[in-house]
Amino acid sequence: MSRIAVYPGTFDPVTNGHLDLTDRGRTHFDRVIMAILRNEDKQPLFSVEERMDLLREAVTVWSNVEVDSFDGLLVDYARRIGATVILRGIRAASDFEYEMQMAMMNRKLAPELETVFLVPSEAYSYISSRLVREVARLGGSAEGLVPDNVVRALEDRFRG
Ligand code: PNS
Repeated sequence: MSRIAVYPGTFDPVTNGHLDLTDRGRTHFDRVIMAILRNEDKQPLFSVEERMDLLREAVTVWSNVEVDSFDGLLVDYARRIGATVILRGIRAASDFEYEMQMAMMNRKLAPELETVFLVPSEAYSYISSRLVREVARLGGSAEGLVPDNVVRALEDRFRG
């Protein structure tokens, strides 16, 4: 039976930290599904479809990584696709509380699903999508923070 891990997130936009985590995850599971949450209230920088395209381009070299989107509860989606693991990253202690809360809630909702935390390379520990958006919006370079296709998409978004 293949072990499927779902890596859920907003990915607005995907960063090199997300990709580092995915690369680590894909060596431990048969398939990693990066799943973008659809029903966010806040106004995103990139639409779900744009984010999915950017993600797909960024993970194209990894044959066991797929990109999808979901609505509603993560645990319902995970069950639907046959995932047994929820993959999340912890960059620093400040991530811990929020991640623990989500992991506990997801365990309450679906005890058979295991949340697995991975730690990205320290080179990416300070990177977040929110800061990348802010830097790009204010004219800074996102080079080295996000994959090249996202650097171009950010330039287009803020110059265009
Ligand atoms: O990248 P993010 O914004 O930290 O990802 C948050 C995400 C998408 C993993 C989380 O908001 C989520 O799983 N939302 C789906 C709704 C849900 O299942 N909520 C209850 C469990 S906490």
